[in-house]
Amino acid sequence: MPYPAYMEESIRKLEATRERRLKAEIPLITTRERESLVRQYHPDYAGTGRRELLLGVNKGQMMPEELANQLEGNSRIDPDKIDLSKIDYDTDVLVVGSGGAGLSAALLAQENGARVLIATKLRLGDSNTIGAEGGTQAADRPNDSPVLHYLDTMGGGHFENVPELVWAMTRDAPLIIKWLEDLGVVWDKEPDGSMRELKLAGECRARVHSCKDHTGLEVMRALCDEVRCRNNIDYIEFEAAIELIMDDNGRVAGAILLNLETSEVSIVRAKAVILATGGLGRLHTMGFPTTNHYGATADGLVLAYRAGCSLVNGDSIQYHPTGVVYPSHLVGVLVTENVRALGGEIVNIDGEEVACNLEPRDVLASFMIRECTERQKGITTPAGNVGVWEDIPLIDILQGKGTITNRLPTMVRQFARFGIDITREPVLVYPTIHYQNGGVKMDDKAAAEIPGLWVPGEVGGGVHGRNRLGGNSTLDIYVFGRRAGREAARYAKEVKLGKLSLNHVYQHQKELELLGIARERPFSPLLLPNYTKQPNDYLADRQPELGSRI
Ligand code: FUM
Repeated sequence: MPYPAYMEESIRKLEATRERRLKAEIPLITTRERESLVRQYHPDYAGTGRRELLLGVNKGQMMPEELANQLEGNSRIDPDKIDLSKIDYDTDVLVVGSGGAGLSAALLAQENGARVLIATKLRLGDSNTIGAEGGTQAADRPNDSPVLHYLDTMGGGHFENVPELVWAMTRDAPLIIKWLEDLGVVWDKEPDGSMRELKLAGECRARVHSCKDHTGLEVMRALCDEVRCRNNIDYIEFEAAIELIMDDNGRVAGAILLNLETSEVSIVRAKAVILATGGLGRLHTMGFPTTNHYGATADGLVLAYRAGCSLVNGDSIQYHPTGVVYPSHLVGVLVTENVRALGGEIVNIDGEEVACNLEPRDVLASFMIRECTERQKGITTPAGNVGVWEDIPLIDILQGKGTITNRLPTMVRQFARFGIDITREPVLVYPTIHYQNGGVKMDDKAAAEIPGLWVPGEVGGGVHGRNRLGGNSTLDIYVFGRRAGREAARYAKEVKLGKLSLNHVYQHQKELELLGIARERPFSPLLLPNYTKQPNDYLADRQPELGSRI
C-alpha cells in the first residue's frame, strides 16, 4: 500500500525544502509561549471530554469521561456470591501484571524471601513495556548527573511532579542500567564499548540507553527468562484481577481473579499485593488512537480507587506526537522519538518545518494539532485521517547512509510490509495516546495509601507531573518495581492478616445506587477494549447482566 499519487506530490515538496530546512534556524519560543500553546491546543485542555467524578476520594475533580465511567463502574462481582473461605491460592506477595514493573517487583520480592504469585491478564510479559521502542534514561556519563536528570524531569512535568519520587527515580537510574545488563540485556554500544546514548526532548544531556528500536522487547526477554528460572515465583496467565480483597483491619489482603478463557473466578489470599497493571490507553480518551497494548484498560486505577486510594494528576494524558496515520492498519502505532533525536523533522503539507524536533511531547503535539486544525496544513489520507510528515530519510543525510536501517530496523520492516521504504520516504504522523501521566498516589517505595498495597509503574502517579519525558517510563517501572518488591516482601514477613472482606465493594455499589447511576454505568474494570460496540451500547446491553453478576 504505497502512498497514493497526491501524497507523493506532497512528498516531492518536502524533498524540495530539505536543503533550506537544514540551513534554517527554528525560532526559539519562550516557556510562556509553550504554556499558552499547550493550553490552547493540547487535548487535556480542550474543555470537552471531561467531567466531574461523582464518588470516591477524588470526588468533584475533573477526569477524562472514559476514566470517570470506569471509576464509577459497577463491580464485576456480586459480593454475596463470593465465598471468601474457599482460598484457591495462598501466597506472600501477589503481583498483578507482568510488564516491566511487575516482573521487577516479583524478582526483588523473591530475592527478599517471599513466595510470589504473578497473575497476568494476557500472557507473561504482555504489556506496554514489551512494545517500548525508545529506551531508558540514566545519568551515567561524566558530564551528567542525577541532579540534571531530576531538573529535566521536573521541568518536563511542569513542576507538578512529586519531588521525592523524581529524586528516587533519577538516583536509582544508573544502577538500573547495570542491573538489567547483568540480567543479560544487550544495550547499544559505541565501537569503543561505551554505552550509546541519545538525547530526547526536554533533556539537557544524552542519557537514553536503547536496544535499537525494540528496547522493551529485549529487556522483557531478559526479565521473563529470569522470572521463569527462579524458585518461588509462580505465574498464572489469562487471569485478570477484578477486585481487591481487604481484611477487617483495612489492609489489602488479596484479589479476586477472573479467568478470561474459562470465566472461572478464583480467590487469592496474599499478605501483600503489588498492582502493576499499567495504564489506560485502550480507553481511547477523546477518541484518540493509542500506542498501547490491548490490556491497557485502567484496571489498577479502578481496583485501587474502589479500595479507597486517591489519584494524582488523574486527568493528565500523554499524547505522543508521532503516532502513525498511514497506512490505516498502523493508525496510532508509535514512531519512536529516537527518530527525532536522530534528526527526523516534522513537516507540513508545504514542506515547512512545524516546530523544533525536540520540543517536549505535550508542546510538539500541540504544535501539530494546531497545524492540522487551525492552520489547515496537514495531509488527509484516503481514509480521512489527517497528519503531518516526519522526514525520516533526513536521518541518513545527517548521520550517514545506513543509520536508519541500523538504528530503526523494526520500523523499517514494519513499513516495508506496506510497500513504504522509510529510508527513502517520510511517514505521516499525528498525536496518539501513549501514557497516563498521573495515577494512584504512592510514596517513594511505591506504597499506596492503604496498607498492603503497592502501585509501581504506570498505574502509580506523581513521578511525571503533567508530561513525562521520553525514556523515563522504562526507568520508573524498574525503579519502583524493585522498590515495591523489596518492601512488599519485608512487610509480608510481619503482617498477620485478619478476616477477609469485600466491604469496600458493598460500599461502592451502595454509593452508585444512592447516586442513582448504577444502571447507567458499565461494568469495570473494562479488561479488554470492545471494538465492536460504541460506549452507549453498554446502556442497552448491561441491564440483563446486572442481575447476574459473578
Ligand atoms: O518515542 C518513544 O520511543 C517512546 C519512549 C517513551 O515513551 O519513553
